[in-house]
Amino acid sequence: MADDKNLDLFKEVREADRKALSLGRKLRVGFIGTGGIAHSHMRAYKQFDDIEVVAGADLIPGRAAAFFKEFGVEAADYTDYKKMIAECRLDAVSVCTYNRQHAGPACYALEHGLSVLLEKPFSVTLDEAAGICRAEKASGKILSIGFQPRFDPNMQMIGKIFRSGELGRIYYIQTGGGRRRGIPCSGGKDSFIREDTAGIGAVGDIGCYSLDMVLNALGYPKPVTVSGYMSDFFGKDPGYSGYKGNGAVMSEKFGVDDFAAAFIRFETGLVVDFRISWAMNMDTSGDTIVLGTKGGLRIPSTECWNGTVGGPMTVYKEVAGEQTETVLPVLEIKGLGRIEQKVRSFCDAAIGNILGDPDAKSPVPSSQIIVNQAIIDGIVRSARLGREVEIVIPEL
Ligand SMILES: NC(=O)c1ccc[n+]([C@@H]2O[C@H](COP(=O)([O-])OP(=O)(O)OC[C@H]3O[C@@H](n4cnc5c(N)ncnc54)[C@H](O)[C@@H]3O)[C@@H](O)[C@H]2O)c1
Repeated sequence: MADDKNLDLFKEVREADRKALSLGRKLRVGFIGTGGIAHSHMRAYKQFDDIEVVAGADLIPGRAAAFFKEFGVEAADYTDYKKMIAECRLDAVSVCTYNRQHAGPACYALEHGLSVLLEKPFSVTLDEAAGICRAEKASGKILSIGFQPRFDPNMQMIGKIFRSGELGRIYYIQTGGGRRRGIPCSGGKDSFIREDTAGIGAVGDIGCYSLDMVLNALGYPKPVTVSGYMSDFFGKDPGYSGYKGNGAVMSEKFGVDDFAAAFIRFETGLVVDFRISWAMNMDTSGDTIVLGTKGGLRIPSTECWNGTVGGPMTVYKEVAGEQTETVLPVLEIKGLGRIEQKVRSFCDAAIGNILGDPDAKSPVPSSQIIVNQAIIDGIVRSARLGREVEIVIPEL
């Protein structure tokens, strides 16, 4: 109850802050890419009176126009995002393109003075991520990466537990997530599975969330080496049936990984044992298990991994010589949902940035997500070479 009151108070204060920071006009937002995830961004933007979506660009002719029609939004539609940026006096863009088209549009928008909400994964390669970070730094604008699990109170709880010291020194984490039959290709959609559009498969698509879940909670320790493995047995199988038989025939198009595993070493001595799957002959690839010198934490896996907890977490401790387990109830998301918070927090930062507010900071900063990308990049390189590789975070 006390928590509810605090939440209401917090909301009122946020509203007051927002008004105080008012631009005196609406924030002008555009879209680059108006496919699947753009719909979630649009649903969020539409909830906020101080934001207006004024334009969108999609490579596929007519797609942006159809998108706006679907939402009943009057906005200019383009096929060329550069033309849109030149003509629409935008403040910010949601970059909702497939992975291979994250870096180009994000850099271009930043270089042209726009704040950018970039969908996950950050990029395909570490070089691309470094390029985006450099464009961000040169622009002084806001870049936030679309990791909505960070706005889930259960994910935040993991960080609170780690920081509380209850687990002591954390030396081993097993994490990842699994789908038994969950290659994202329903309805014949192929942008997640083609090499020329996605570039990376499960390792980037859902692996980025699993890594962020534990590494963000730990304050992103520095990774030093990784030994990675990737496979594509299900995607390349012409007989792949998909979830409940609802899979498209796509083996000839499949050009990414559908499973990855890795053993990652960190400067602090921590090791992370990671596995991620779009498809496998198993129900889950296991819960996330955190081992510390004073306690352990189990985070139940979900059936279809998407960056949420699959049930109550359990803390394992020895108390007065007895082995004890404390079950933590799953926390409800109150107020705005995860995607709405991801969009709102980005808009707040973008507005603050325009107003010169020194506290306007990216809610999901590239300085952390580049480490996530460096690990993914290391897994891909190691899997290709068949041996352990070093992870070097570029100087920015
Ligand atoms: N955060 C989440 O929950 C979440 C969920 C789904 C997808 N995603 C991420 O969002 C991205 C897009 O996924 P999706 O499901 O929307 O894919 P999609 O294929 O449905 O949509 C991508 C759209 O971008 C357009 N596009 C590509 N390059 C472009 C360019 N240079 N200019 C203009 N338009 C361009 C394509 O034509 C397509 O319409 C992916 O990187 C994916 O990982 C995030």
